[in-house]
Amino acid sequence: MDKLGVGFIGSGFIARFAAQGWTSVRGADVAAIYNPHPEGARKLAAYCNGLGIGNPNIYTDLHKMLADRTVNAVWVMNPNFARLETVRAVTEEARQGKGNLVGVACEKPLGRTADEAEEMVKLVEKTNLLHGYLENQVYSPSVVRGRDAIWRYGARKAGRPYLARAAEEHGGPHMPWFWDARKSGGGVLLDMACHSIEAARFLLTDPEKPGSLKPVSVQGDIRSLKWTREPAMGQLKKQYGVDYSVAPAEDYASVNITYEDEGKEVLSEAKVSWCYTGPGLRLSMEVLGPEYNVAMNSLQQELSVFLSRNIHSGQSEDFVEKQAAEQGLMPIVADEAAAYGYAAECRHMIESFVEGEAPSETWHDGLLVTRLMMHAYKSAEEGKTLKFSPESVRGFVPAVAKGTWKPG
Ligand SMILES: NC(=O)c1ccc[n+]([C@@H]2O[C@H](COP(=O)([O-])OP(=O)(O)OC[C@H]3O[C@@H](n4cnc5c(N)ncnc54)[C@H](O)[C@@H]3O)[C@@H](O)[C@H]2O)c1
Repeated sequence: MDKLGVGFIGSGFIARFAAQGWTSVRGADVAAIYNPHPEGARKLAAYCNGLGIGNPNIYTDLHKMLADRTVNAVWVMNPNFARLETVRAVTEEARQGKGNLVGVACEKPLGRTADEAEEMVKLVEKTNLLHGYLENQVYSPSVVRGRDAIWRYGARKAGRPYLARAAEEHGGPHMPWFWDARKSGGGVLLDMACHSIEAARFLLTDPEKPGSLKPVSVQGDIRSLKWTREPAMGQLKKQYGVDYSVAPAEDYASVNITYEDEGKEVLSEAKVSWCYTGPGLRLSMEVLGPEYNVAMNSLQQELSVFLSRNIHSGQSEDFVEKQAAEQGLMPIVADEAAAYGYAAECRHMIESFVEGEAPSETWHDGLLVTRLMMHAYKSAEEGKTLKFSPESVRGFVPAVAKGTWKPG
């Protein structure tokens, strides 16, 4: 198959980023968009059309889209709470073979719990579908080039890196369902540590020995530093209708993972927050090795703009995702879809599906990340470092997701 038709499931924030990134995908067009709420799908379809990446049909019935023979792969980009039900439908359709599907790609987190993620893997493995886990950060050009620099130059001469730090921070999500952990499955740990954990694991993994890094132990900490305090709590209720005096979620998390590689200890530190006030989304990473280090910070751009106090404009995210100001000196991320990895991620997934090969990130990676995050929640609840053991997080639902978490 030379060119695939892709069906988008969901047409919100991340689907728009995927569309932007799609301009650098050559092996596929966006053939369809499914959304039970068609207005958003219509808007995205017009946007795709304008970008020249397809003229998608709109479906409000998922089964009809899956039976459309021009749809060869689907991108699951709806909210976390709709994930499993969506994948049940996709895999059921693939097993019955009515449609023409070869692959399915799914946004992070793969599941809200280890059980959900495990079920996703079981469902997809009952089909012949190729599966890709959409962890954009490991396709970000800075992360890929940074990994290449340390492994090709530093590690080959001086030994493997021993520590990676990855952080993702902004002022909080854009839709109410993210804030309500009873729907989304968690706060910032689930929403963003998935990225930082996987980016750090990617940077620490020898490109010639994928899968060589074995998790040994996990230590997690979660806090509410901003959004259960006034005036932030009142603002949250007013803007999103979410009441953190009843069921709060964490807005800060740290996850320390110890891995082992050929008898050597390797450390990963993920720090994430929804309580960072700065110009916008900040991704930062650092890797330390015996005679080298590599560092990146997505807000240290070569491009910035200064707008004086006399210029007043409405709120926008034109310069950077989660932009928090419209005046003063501001960094501009010139091509966000490329910088954050969406473009290369979509390109890689499509190239893999066209070739009939498994992508570099599959749902097994998504499952591992979900298990690591569940260890982190459990560790935070129990106040101790936990030995990594997939069995120990079966049946585990974080207190945050149950709505029973009490911040200190
Ligand atoms: N990789 C990243 O950097 C990144 C960034 C943001 C979001 N995400 C992930 O992408 C997913 C979607 O997040 P978002 O920010 O786009 O959310 P969003 O709320 O902006 O968009 C969700 C979309 O799904 C639609 N929808 C709602 N219920 C649905 C259903 N049952 N079936 C199909 N569509 C449905 C909504 O109408 C909307 O179009 C989440 O899992 C989130 O974690 C990933």
